[in-house]
Amino acid sequence: MCDYYFDGKGKAFRPMIVVLMARACNIHHNNSREVQASQRSVAIIAEMIHTASLVHDDVIDDANSRRGKMTVNQIWGERKAVLAGDFILSAASVALARIGNTAIISVLTQVIEDLVRGEFLQLGCKENENERFAHYLEKTFKKTASLIANSCKAVSILGCPDPKVHEIAYQYGKNVGIAFQLIDDVLDFTSCADHLGKPTAADLKLGLATGPVLFACQQFPEMNAMIMRRFSKPGDVERARKYVLQNIIKCSGYLLALKLPPVTGRGKRQEGG
Ligand code: FPP
Ligand code: MG
Repeated sequence: MCDYYFDGKGKAFRPMIVVLMARACNIHHNNSREVQASQRSVAIIAEMIHTASLVHDDVIDDANSRRGKMTVNQIWGERKAVLAGDFILSAASVALARIGNTAIISVLTQVIEDLVRGEFLQLGCKENENERFAHYLEKTFKKTASLIANSCKAVSILGCPDPKVHEIAYQYGKNVGIAFQLIDDVLDFTSCADHLGKPTAADLKLGLATGPVLFACQQFPEMNAMIMRRFSKPGDVERARKYVLQNIIKCSGYLLALKLPPVTGRGKRQEGG
C-alpha cells in the first residue's frame, strides 16, 4: 500500500524545489554544487509527509482517484488507508530523527501541525465576506505552503549558517506554495479529470469555497447564501460552477488585454496532482 504512490511517475514537485533550494544555498555559501545527504533526506521526507497527508485526505474526502489511479482507500478500504498514511508518516519521522539535527526536527514537525490545522480551518467557514479571503489564504498556507516553505528553510539551515538566507528560503517556499495552490484551485474548474488525474469540481462537491468561488462571489452576490450552506441544496454545485466559469472567462479577458496568458488546464498536470 505504501509503495503504491511512490511509483516514480509523480511530478516530484516538492522534492525538486527542495533540492534546487539546497543547491542554491550551497553555491551561495561556499560555491559548492554538491547536495548534502541530509539535504536529500529533507527532500525525501517532504514528499513522504505530503503523500501521508494525501492518503489521509482521500479518506476524509471519500475520494476514489488520485494521480490518475484509484486511491488507497478505494482499493484497500478506509481502515487500511488510515494505517498506511500513519505508517508513511512514521517512516518519515524515523528518517527525520536520523538527520540528527534538532533545528531541522523542529522546522519539519511544524509542517505536520500546520497540515492538521489547515484541514480543521477548511471545515470552518467565515460568515463575514471580508474575512473569507484571509481565512482561505491562512488555510492555503497551512495545507500547502507550509510544507514547501519549511522544507526550503530546513535545507537552507543545513547549507548555510546565515539566518537571512533561511528567511529568504522560507519566503520563497511560502510564495511558491500559495501560488501553486491558487492555480490548483482554478484548475479544479477549468481542467478535465484526465489532465488532473482526479475528479474536477471536487471542491464544490465537498462544500468548499476556494479562491475562484470567492472572486466570482464579488460578481454574483447570490453565491453568498450558497457558500454559507456549503453548496448543499440541489443545483447549487452546477449554478456555482457556471458563475465561477463566467467570472474566469471575464478575468481571462482582462489578462488578454494585459497580454498575460490566461490560466487553462491545457498541457498541465498530465501526471496528476
Ligand atoms: C489535499 O487537499 C490535502 C492536503 C494538502 C493536506 C491534508 C492533511 C491532512 C489530512 C492532515 C493529516 C496530515 C498528515 C501528515 C497525516 P485537497 O483535498 O484540497 O486536495 P486534493 O484535490 O488533491 O484532494
Ligand atoms: Mg482531497
